Amino acid sequence: MNVYDGERMAELMAAEGMVATDDANAADLVVLNTCHIREKATEKVYSDIGRVRKVAGAEGRAPMIAVAGCVAQAEGEEIVRRAKVDVVVGPQAYHNLPKLVAAAAKGEAALDTDMPLASKFGALPARRNVAPGAFLTVQEGCDKFCTYCVVPYTRGAEISRPFAAIVDEAKALVDAGAREITLLGQNVNAWSDGDGRGLHDLIRALDRVPGLARIRYTTSHPNDMAQGLIDAHRDVESLMPFLHLPVQAGSDRVLRAMNRQHTRNGYLRLLDRMRAARPDIALSGDFIVGFPGETEAEFAETLSLVDAVGYAQAYSFKYSPRPGTPAATLGEQVAAEVMDERLQRLQAALQRDQAAFNAASVGRTCRVLIERKGKRDGQWLGKSPWLQSVHVVGPHAIGDMLDVTLVEAGPLSLTGEVRALAAA
Ligand code: 5AD
Ligand code: SF4
Repeated sequence: MNVYDGERMAELMAAEGMVATDDANAADLVVLNTCHIREKATEKVYSDIGRVRKVAGAEGRAPMIAVAGCVAQAEGEEIVRRAKVDVVVGPQAYHNLPKLVAAAAKGEAALDTDMPLASKFGALPARRNVAPGAFLTVQEGCDKFCTYCVVPYTRGAEISRPFAAIVDEAKALVDAGAREITLLGQNVNAWSDGDGRGLHDLIRALDRVPGLARIRYTTSHPNDMAQGLIDAHRDVESLMPFLHLPVQAGSDRVLRAMNRQHTRNGYLRLLDRMRAARPDIALSGDFIVGFPGETEAEFAETLSLVDAVGYAQAYSFKYSPRPGTPAATLGEQVAAEVMDERLQRLQAALQRDQAAFNAASVGRTCRVLIERKGKRDGQWLGKSPWLQSVHVVGPHAIGDMLDVTLVEAGPLSLTGEVRALAAA
């Protein structure tokens, strides 16, 4: 979602006559779009600010520094005090970035961490020049309140964008070059139009948008995985066979302490239904090791859940206490060495399964959407339906959809042989 928000902020500033650059030394304004989910991400912001402060800037003028995103939301004034930045803008207020930059240029205070009732989306400019694999935020915020998580505080309560606005933005993205759209939300499968339509209705509508070949969505909560969405995976060809469904832990005691509101078995049965609907579905998840009080036996239940599922890929993290969350004040914080060791064991299991999933894909012929140039001459990098990175060689271009036979698997990517340029 930060990638999406970053694109939208660049579009806002482009409407003010600014041009995006990758070179901080050529910049008049540097926007740091930040993440508050774990302490490491937050601390990085302060070192990044220090780094940006040293750049020369356009014509020798130090660039203005804006801090956006969830660190801005959570720390507000504190950032200005600690790091003297020019602009602080939260994730629900970034449509005001141009105004804030103008105020800061006049030496005025420029801080906006409001969570207005009217959503920012209506105030954003039209989409132009997007990547073939584009993002589209459809839902923001979270009402789940897992005890370790800052999202309900930084992104706020769950809100769903209106159906028509999303379909319009999808069409604009396709006109601007997108062939695949990933629908985004902290709790994307909780999307609802308030009139009984859910994410699957939205997906079925997007399936009818001419030129849109692929639909994905992320991130989902197990309890919002409606039957209609599972059915969509069976029926809708453009909906890719991939599901990112975080579980966090394999022990029911830990899941309860996390306030996940689902059990281990409930999660596994849900995946059974998912596989019944779409046998080739690739599964992904998020894991936290070392939640306060997690015992070795409880951690072993996470490992056995991983064995039971066989993930195609996954993300795993050490528990990070976040200020203001209930878990941060629990006793029994797990020692750092124990967390390190558990993370290593978990990641070894996840890497083993990812390599096995990739190896099992060899021989499949599938479509690959080319996203960028590879490192070697004539090499291109794209994505399979199961979100694997696939390398191919040939006279291709970004945005090509190719029929590819997967011929070789590595731990993190595959090599493919191109059969044909796929029909639109
Ligand atoms: N510590 C570690 N990982 C966290 N996540 C969320 N909060 C924390 C935390 N306090 C992880 C979860 C979530 C992902 C986006 O980040 O696994 O699914
Ligand atoms: Fe955070 Fe996800 Fe739990 Fe919401 S469902 S509180 S975003 S981990």
